[in-house]
Amino acid sequence: MGRDNVTDVSPVLYLVVTGAPLTRHVHHAVESGRAQGWRVAVVATDAALAWMDHDELERLDVPVLNEHRQPDTAKRLPRPDAVVLAPGTFNTINKLAAGIADTYALSVLCESLGARRHMVIVPFVSQSLAGHPAWTRSLATLRRAGAFLVDPRSGRLGFEEALESGTGDAVADAFRWDWALAPIRFEARYT
Ligand SMILES: Cc1cc2nc3c(=O)[nH]c(=O)nc-3n(C[C@H](O)[C@H](O)[C@H](O)COP(=O)(O)O)c2cc1C
Repeated sequence: MGRDNVTDVSPVLYLVVTGAPLTRHVHHAVESGRAQGWRVAVVATDAALAWMDHDELERLDVPVLNEHRQPDTAKRLPRPDAVVLAPGTFNTINKLAAGIADTYALSVLCESLGARRHMVIVPFVSQSLAGHPAWTRSLATLRRAGAFLVDPRSGRLGFEEALESGTGDAVADAFRWDWALAPIRFEARYT
């Protein structure tokens, strides 16, 4: 699981990716996380699989998990010290806030939130989806549970505004993964 300056005792970071444009760039997050000393694993929803750059992830030799392990098989990864959900789709964020754990990715997220592990969420939704009444309620629930919300356009902590329709690719291309890693940079290791 480790590379470069990362060792078996390095803190563990799960990058959870979903079905939205930012997932195309998750291999850059793997590199940034490793450069900061994290042992990194990627957890993908089914919808994320179509967006990921599988060649780049293979080149980085990073574990990519999408399904639960089979019963009676060994755990594949150590528990995470921190979790970054980026991009957070409307679907996954609402399910996480509601406590629905019907996929491997949602189980990881729900368990991590329940255990109050350090969690960063980069909500990635259009304005029309964000107008749904569940959205503000879900964000408020996650904030109250201690998750850091990061704006995908500016990196600002405490996301409030959704994306204009049709801007998802451009926002994803301009996104800097350091924005998502900054809130957990020291906290996860020293608290
Ligand atoms: C081209 C395309 C772009 C999408 N972009 C987004 C997006 O930015 N935000 C979002 O919440 N859903 C987006 N979706 C819809 C999600 O992929 C869809 O709701 C999916 O069920 C999410 O599943 P997941 O949360 O398990 O990954 C997009 C779908 C497509 C086909």
